[in-house]
Amino acid sequence: MRLIIEKDYDNVSQWAANYVAARINEANPTPEHPFVLGCPTGSSPLGMYRALIKLNKEGKVSFRNVVTFNMDEYCGIPRDHEQSYYTFMWTNFFNQIDILPENVNILNGNAENPVEECKRYEEKIKGYGGIDLFLGGVGPDGHIAFNEPGSSLTSRTRMKTLTTDTIIANSRFFENNVDLVPKTALTVGVGTVMSAKSVLLIVNGHNKARALKHGVEGGISQMWTISALQMHQHAIIVADDAACGELKVDTYRYFKDIEAANLDPATQL
Ligand code: GLP
Repeated sequence: MRLIIEKDYDNVSQWAANYVAARINEANPTPEHPFVLGCPTGSSPLGMYRALIKLNKEGKVSFRNVVTFNMDEYCGIPRDHEQSYYTFMWTNFFNQIDILPENVNILNGNAENPVEECKRYEEKIKGYGGIDLFLGGVGPDGHIAFNEPGSSLTSRTRMKTLTTDTIIANSRFFENNVDLVPKTALTVGVGTVMSAKSVLLIVNGHNKARALKHGVEGGISQMWTISALQMHQHAIIVADDAACGELKVDTYRYFKDIEAANLDPATQL
């Protein structure tokens, strides 16, 4: 695992955007061989999306031959609800880049048969030869996508019940009213993320410090699904200083040290 430590959220976002653009450009995607990108929602990736929009408008990266698969979607709220992940993605990213609408994939949280919907999603990902780069954030309890503590580390796309912690955390988007937060969601599994060729997580802010500590220094555990990334051959976490608050000083210095010698020109700020 690589842990990239940047001083603040802006630098984290720019680093992540530069990395994504570099990987897309390097793949030189075509309609026959598109670049397959896994996309998260939440506040963590917002800065990266803004930076990618800018890079797109400046002609430094194109999404024309990029196919996306979103991580998760709430169940039981209409697709055009202002807090659906569908609305989030179109408002904050897709409407502002040159992606083709037919290349966007988002789970249907209102599918009549959620089991079929999840199966269809997994098969579609497989049909593209898998996800090239899965982007993600992390919940304060260490969950990736909606793989709450206790989720199988080999899980695939399915319906999950949200924990009270997550419902409280996400109530900030629902008038601070926990009763308005959906109680279930469709989500890719930890195994789905692990099957991607590479994974990049954005972890920022003091409230993520415990999750980062468990993800980087803890043992692999279903109670902190972020920790599964320790088993991935190409996993990167880009974190700000605030999120590193619970790491050992030695761990912090170690990653700073090896990354100083591991400079990828494409991501230099
Ligand atoms: C939700 C999403 C996750 C996201 C997490 C953290 O639970 N399902 O994909 O990583 O929130 O969100 P934020 O980035 O807003 O802290």
